[in-house]
Amino acid sequence: MQVVRLASETDFAGWREAARSLRAHRIPPDETLWTVEGDDGLFAETPRAPTAEARPFRVPREFVELASAAILHRCDDRFALLYRILWRLEREPYVLRVADADGDKARDYARGVSKAVHKMKAFVRFREVAAEDDAEAYVAWFEPAHRVTEIVAPFFMGRFANMRFSLLTPDACAHWDLKDLVFTAGADPADAPKEDALEDYWRTYYASIFNPARLKVGAMQKEMPKRYWRNLPEARLIPDLIARAERRTTAMVARAPSTPSRRVMRAALRNSRDAPYDGQALTSLEAVMAGVHVCRRCDLWRDATQGVTGEGAPHARLMFVGEQPGDQEDLAGRPFVGPAGQMFDKALAEAGVPRERTYVTNAVKHFKHEPRGKRRIHKTPSTREVTACRWWLDNERRIVRPKVIVALGATAALSVTSKPVTVAKSRQQALQLSDHAQGVVTYHPSFLLRAPDPETKARAYAEFVQDLKFAWKLSG
Ligand code: URA
Repeated sequence: MQVVRLASETDFAGWREAARSLRAHRIPPDETLWTVEGDDGLFAETPRAPTAEARPFRVPREFVELASAAILHRCDDRFALLYRILWRLEREPYVLRVADADGDKARDYARGVSKAVHKMKAFVRFREVAAEDDAEAYVAWFEPAHRVTEIVAPFFMGRFANMRFSLLTPDACAHWDLKDLVFTAGADPADAPKEDALEDYWRTYYASIFNPARLKVGAMQKEMPKRYWRNLPEARLIPDLIARAERRTTAMVARAPSTPSRRVMRAALRNSRDAPYDGQALTSLEAVMAGVHVCRRCDLWRDATQGVTGEGAPHARLMFVGEQPGDQEDLAGRPFVGPAGQMFDKALAEAGVPRERTYVTNAVKHFKHEPRGKRRIHKTPSTREVTACRWWLDNERRIVRPKVIVALGATAALSVTSKPVTVAKSRQQALQLSDHAQGVVTYHPSFLLRAPDPETKARAYAEFVQDLKFAWKLSG
């Protein structure tokens, strides 16, 4: 039995190196035992470095992404599970694309981790503490469902760049001193303060945004589970707000209608279907990403793991717009990384378009789907959802300022051009768009995957490559 001892519960780099070496030496999963530094009684052999005879191998990017998320799950079998999948990928390269017990379990783990990330971003509350040099400092205590502190801390560093803080959890603590983000070992709840002057601000804010007429206790508890309440200053108000909701709603309904204020009218106008923008225009892709993570412009966020924004060269000349993230993209938080993404990458390579010099995004930022058994089946977003999400795409367009925008499929074309478009009739044309970019419309890569017969598929693929070449040249 080969025993591998990793440096910590979140040591992905160590797992990856050991797994690579084990597999190169053809040590099967059932002869491998994974432990973590500090586990007693097991003597670990350092996995041997690959030798010249050891066979080199490559794994798909989707596996690396899945593994780097799933490894943060609290289940003890995750290291072994991921090594088993890695092992199987050689003979069963499709293993992550089909319903499979190992693949499903790893995806479940990654989904759980992604939810834990989302909850941590939403429910951490910093409290002010007296620092030795009288400077302001803040401390928060949080118990994440999985070991996500190290990947969430940079989010708080970005959000509270001017605030010295320590984020304490039982697994690890993150400390930001305005210069460096440093991690230390896990802490105890007693290390974190319970109250500060900001609590009252939180409570006042929460009470003022609470709308009794829209109260849905089940949905509220699902979104804000009770286990997080003890760290939330506003949680103390919830039972009373719920108890009084019905009476307040009846009183609201009985009250004579009032004329909306000018401010409310202006906001309503901005939010109307035709208004492309609301609020202030965003000025950075980081702001778009932060906004998408908390977006409630339509209901798609409810069933999605996370919002997925675009990625690529921040001032790319060529922007690609797809429809919406798929199952894999929803888990990975990145556009076009699943099967459609692989088709897209292949065609880009054939057309000579370097993906890293482009910007790739979607018309809709959350995965719309319906459950079928254990699978999540893609559903086409409605015009209302596309319109609601256009705010984010418009911001991406304004910030990146591409010369050419390629709409991949009809939904993207609707979002990019603001009108219904027939893809087959609009190919190979340069359309003038409202922001002075030129638009190109082509097939969605999953159309190529779904083509009914090999001839249609080959023809559509060749046309797709031709369209990519056309757009690349136009952007040059
Ligand atoms: N399909 C899309 O339109 N976008 C993705 O990111 C993935 C699949």
